[in-house]
Amino acid sequence: MSTPSRPSTRTDHDVPVPMRDGTVLRAVVVRPLVDEPVPVVLLRSPYPLADARFETDLMGLAERGLALVMVALRGTGASDGVFYPWVDDERDGVDTIAWCADQEWSNGRVATTGRSYVAQTQLYAAGGAPPALRAMVTGVVPSDPWSLTYTGGALNLGSALGWAAAMAGVPLARRAAAGEDVTALQEAWGALLGSFPAGFATTPLTRIPVLDELFPAWRDWVEHAHVDDYWQQHALPDRPALPTFVVAGWHDVFRDLSLREFAREPRHPGSRLVIGPWSHGAAGRSLGDVDHGPSAAGGAIGLDARLLDFLAAHLASDDVPVPDAPVQVFVTGANVWTHHTTWPPPARDLDLHLHPGALAAEAAPAGTPPSRYVFDPRDPVPTLGGNTLLPQGDAAGTCGSVDQRPLDGRTDVLRFVGDPLPAPLRVIGTVRLTLHAATSAADTDWTAKLVDVHPDGTALNLVDGILRASRQDPTNPTLLTPDEPHELVVELGAVGHEFAAGHRVRLDVSSSSFPRFDRNPGTGAPAASVAEADFVTAHQRVLHDAAHPSRLTLPVVAADDQPADN
Ligand code: BEZ
Repeated sequence: MSTPSRPSTRTDHDVPVPMRDGTVLRAVVVRPLVDEPVPVVLLRSPYPLADARFETDLMGLAERGLALVMVALRGTGASDGVFYPWVDDERDGVDTIAWCADQEWSNGRVATTGRSYVAQTQLYAAGGAPPALRAMVTGVVPSDPWSLTYTGGALNLGSALGWAAAMAGVPLARRAAAGEDVTALQEAWGALLGSFPAGFATTPLTRIPVLDELFPAWRDWVEHAHVDDYWQQHALPDRPALPTFVVAGWHDVFRDLSLREFAREPRHPGSRLVIGPWSHGAAGRSLGDVDHGPSAAGGAIGLDARLLDFLAAHLASDDVPVPDAPVQVFVTGANVWTHHTTWPPPARDLDLHLHPGALAAEAAPAGTPPSRYVFDPRDPVPTLGGNTLLPQGDAAGTCGSVDQRPLDGRTDVLRFVGDPLPAPLRVIGTVRLTLHAATSAADTDWTAKLVDVHPDGTALNLVDGILRASRQDPTNPTLLTPDEPHELVVELGAVGHEFAAGHRVRLDVSSSSFPRFDRNPGTGAPAASVAEADFVTAHQRVLHDAAHPSRLTLPVVAADDQPADN
């Protein structure tokens, strides 16, 4: 039997793609040399188009009979114009999709693909309802700009400043290429890039002059510290339901945003979700201190090929069979993949009440004294593991599940530990903390971290979150009355984990995770405007008694409820 021959391909660089305002973007086009017109996979990126870090095996597309168009976003790569995040993504996306559909070598059917910003830019384009668009593959997708930049009202300092600093290199290189003397700027930019992680302690965060010059969005982000007109103006548009394959990572900075994108309505029944124990940039079997086993890697489940199959199927037909269980979840701890019809899967809420140093099913009795600590924003609790995107990268132990014992000596972390579990406890879904708490400061942050304590004492973080007290309603900043108890809800985010029998559930409560989040100065002023010399120490109380039932809520599923493979 003869194997089907692969078509030879042709690659064109710097192909002009005109936008409606006359700005010319430029593309790399890779297409099969065949007689009939072909469907198109489009990737629109602000990163170097040759950057393999961000993409799957896209070069295999042409061999499958599909064209690949990779366009540099406005103001990046070889494209004209100026890059400012989000402003041009909808219009330029719609125009580029129309261009792809109109080429004589194109059959008019277009799908889009990409990760992170390259995923987000697809959502804007889809908002313009381009008629040629058939499907999307969105990896580690940040959802809307406000949530990309702020979590629980705190600035995502590590990822946002790291990204702003990196992106500042784009206009710098263009200005140098245009003949401008950029020596001073180059030095300032190099100093900023080389300053991390210490540079995250810069205050006030509004004053980073090299970013004013090269990436003015930074100042806009930090000066707009609640959901106001700025964020509303950049918000994602509504979108029609399109078949979308969402790839997410438990330890990706955009984990909860990717899950939100998958679950948003209207959802196309052909959409799929895969979430593995992965970081923003890597889908391997090991991360942080944990080896999740041979089945955990994207390669082990044929992820890249499945994404290409998904694109090819939706480009070939509008009648692709709908999957029975479109959600595939890697359950850490058990190290198995489970399959579900929805995200989140049905679960029962398990409330674990806070007691002094302990977690238990029942609330602590009346009269139980509060737990206390003193938080000094000049000496914040360091970020140790988690769903981070820090310039140190995955390898530096800043991402994933990492032994928390190096933080044991800190007196500004309250630890609430459950009894050893008599049987495995499987948790899939979003974890929440209802906290009754008071602070002496005008404003403060409350952080919550879920930890799996092994019988040998290893304490691995699973998921953690933050709430800036003044930003409970992100559209309406409101200072709480100092020293008065308030009921607050801290969202820790989503987890898929099985605590083994004999392990213990632990909750750590504090007031910072730095530099993942910016520090709350405690003055009540917007955090980015305050110099470190003006930071205020906060005296914190966590209440846990019959009238103040502080509690951790875990979405528990039965292990035999879901088909599993490993
Ligand atoms: C990214 O594309 O990887 C990215 C975008 C915004 C913030 C951080 C990362």
